[in-house]
Amino acid sequence: MSSTIDSVLIENRVFPPSAEMVRQANISGMDAYRALCAEAEADLEGFWARYARSELAWHKPFTKTLDESNAPFYRWFHDGELNASYNCLDRHLATQPDKTAIIFEADDGKVTTITYKALYHDVCRFANALKGKGIKSGDRVLIYMPMSIEAAVAMQACARIGATHSVVFGGFSAKSIHERIIDAGAIAVITADGQYRGGREIPLKPVVDEAFAMGDCDGVKNVIVYKRTGSPVAMKAGRDMWWSDAVKGQADTCEPTWVGAEHPLFLLYTSGSTGKPKGVQHSTGGYLLLAQLTMKWTFDYKPTDIFWCTADVGWVTGHTYIVYGPLACGATEIMFEGVPTYPDAGRFWKMIQDHRVTVFYTAPTAIRSLIKAGGDLPKKYDLSSLRILGSVGEPINPEAWMWYYETVGRSRCPIVDTWWQTETGGHMINPLPGATPLKPGSCTFPLPGIIADIVDETGRTVEFGKGGMLVMKRPWPSMIRTIWGDPERFRKTYFPEDFHGKYYLAGDGASRDTEGYIRIMGRIDDVLNVSGHRLGTMEVESALVANPLVAEAAVVGRPDELTGEAICAFVVLKQTRPSAADAERIAKELRDWVGKEIGPIAKPREIRFGENLPKTRSGKIMRRLLRSLAKGEVITQDTSTLENPAILEQLKHVS
Ligand code: PRX
Repeated sequence: MSSTIDSVLIENRVFPPSAEMVRQANISGMDAYRALCAEAEADLEGFWARYARSELAWHKPFTKTLDESNAPFYRWFHDGELNASYNCLDRHLATQPDKTAIIFEADDGKVTTITYKALYHDVCRFANALKGKGIKSGDRVLIYMPMSIEAAVAMQACARIGATHSVVFGGFSAKSIHERIIDAGAIAVITADGQYRGGREIPLKPVVDEAFAMGDCDGVKNVIVYKRTGSPVAMKAGRDMWWSDAVKGQADTCEPTWVGAEHPLFLLYTSGSTGKPKGVQHSTGGYLLLAQLTMKWTFDYKPTDIFWCTADVGWVTGHTYIVYGPLACGATEIMFEGVPTYPDAGRFWKMIQDHRVTVFYTAPTAIRSLIKAGGDLPKKYDLSSLRILGSVGEPINPEAWMWYYETVGRSRCPIVDTWWQTETGGHMINPLPGATPLKPGSCTFPLPGIIADIVDETGRTVEFGKGGMLVMKRPWPSMIRTIWGDPERFRKTYFPEDFHGKYYLAGDGASRDTEGYIRIMGRIDDVLNVSGHRLGTMEVESALVANPLVAEAAVVGRPDELTGEAICAFVVLKQTRPSAADAERIAKELRDWVGKEIGPIAKPREIRFGENLPKTRSGKIMRRLLRSLAKGEVITQDTSTLENPAILEQLKHVS
C-alpha cells in the first residue's frame, strides 16, 4: 500500500446554493444534512431501516436490518422479500400509467417514447418469453445490447423473474464476452444485430458468435436477438431467436418472482489489480434502496424532472442511474444511443434544449472533449430548463468544473460531483444541491449513513490537509456482496487484514482540506482510469503478452488532458528491438490486438519498445520509473537497485 500522500491542490472558490434551490430541495440546507448524518451515526440500522420501509415496496417486510455475523459478508434486510421490477414499474401503474418513462433518442436523432404502462407490458412480455425458455430465478443471463429501450426491458425482465443479469458493455470484445459467459455460468444471452454510434454501424451479434467460437459456451441454451440495424447475422437454429418472435403471443402481464432482499440482482464485471476482471455481485433490496434514495438526495428528484444520465447501460452508472434509480422513482428520463460529438459537438446541448432536460449527469472526460471541440457551442442553445448538473467517473479538474458551471449551467445550477464505484452500487460522497456549498474539484462530504474516512496505513484518521486512503468504516446497504465465485478475493481486496478486515478499502487516495472537503486523488492500486472507465494494468499487460510477438510488457498510466489518464505500454518483443520504421507498424498491430482482446478503450495510446524493462536485481519491474518515463520526466529517483540502468535511455523515447 502506498504511504501517506500529501495533497497539493488548494481551491479557495466556494459556491453556495441559491436561496431558491435551498428552499425547494429534498434535503434543504446544511443543518438538515447534518441532522440526517447525526441520526445515522447514532443509530445506523434504525436510519437505514426507516428509509428501506418508506422508500421500497416489500412483498414481505424485513425484521432484521443488518446482519454482521459473517462479516465482511454483510446482509441487509435479508428476511424481507421484494422484486426490483415491481418497484420500478408496477407501483407506478395506479398513479401515473401514462407518464413517459423513457425518451429514447437514436443516433440519427429519431425519438421514441414509452409510458410506464407500455414499459410494464413490454417487460412482462419479455419476462414471459424468458420464462418460456426455462430461464428461472438465480440463473445468469448475459446482456450485450446497444443503448435502447430494449436494453432496459431486458434488464428489468431478468429482475422480474429473479434471473441475475450480467451486462457487458457494447464496446467490449468477443474475448471479454467469452470470459464473462464462462465465469458467470450464463445460460442465455440477450443481444442485438448491431448498433449505431456516431453515424457508424457497429456489429454486436457477430461478436457474440465469435465468443461462442472460442469454445466452452455450451451452457448457453438461448440467444435472443433484437433487430436494430437489419444487417444480416447468422442465427443458429434451436438456440438463436429474434426478439420479436420471442415475445409474439406472450401475455402482457407477469407475476413478479418475489426474492429475498439479498438475492443477486446483477453481476457487473470490473477491472482490478490482477489480470482477471471480477464479477461484482449486487443485492436486490439494499442496492435498490440507495439507487432510489440518491435520486432524491443527490439529484433532488422531483416528479416534473426530465432526467438525463449519459452513461451506457454497460457501466454501473447506467445500471443505477438509468435502469433502476430513475424508474424506481417514476421519473421521465432520456436514453441516448449516440455519441456527444455527432453530428457535431453541440449534440448534448441540442438534446437538453429539445427535451427540456432539468438534471444532466455526465463524465469529466466528455466535458473536457466538448470544451475542446467547441467551448462556445452551449451558448447557442436554450439551456434554461437545467437546474442541476452532475459529474461522475473521475476527478473533475477545476477548469472543466468552472466551464461546466458557467457555460452549461449559466452559473445557476449546482454541480454534484459524485464519487462512487461499481462496488458501492450508488453515490457515496457528493454535494447535495440544496445544501452543500461547492468547491470546484471536490466531491465534498459523505452522504448521510455513509461512514467514510481517510486513513494512513495503520488505519488512523489523517489530519485535515493531509492525504491518505479512502475507507468506509461501516457497511452500507448497496455495497458489493462478494466477487462472483471468489469470496476470498472479495475479502482480501476490499477488507484487507491491514485494517483487521473491518474497513472497506476503496482503492482511492483522497485528502481533506481544512474544512473537511474531500478531494479524490486517484487510484492507489494498479488500476487505470481512462475516460472514466476502469482498466487494470495487468489486464492490458496480459492482453499484450498473449500476442505471439511479445515477450514481456508493462503498462502504466500517464496524465492526459482529455481522457484523465492515457495508457502507455513498454514492450519487449521476442525478436530484436524494432527499427523506427518497423516500430510504428508493430505498435499499430499490438494496439489493434489489445482492442480485439479487451475492447477499443484499452488500446494503449503509446507503445515503446525496449530490449528489456527496468528491473530490480530480484526481477521486479520498477513501475515508478516507467511512470516517470511515460510522463517525459527526468528520472530523479533512486536507481541504485536497478539491474540494468542503461535501459532507461532506450525507453525514454517513443520509437
Ligand atoms: O477512482 C475512482 C473513480 O472511479 C473509480 C470507480 O470506477 P468504476 O467502478 O468504473 O465506477 C465509475 C462510476 C461510478 C473510483 O474508485 N471515480 C469515480 N467517480 C469519481 C472518481 N474519482 C473522482 N471523483 C469522482 N466523482
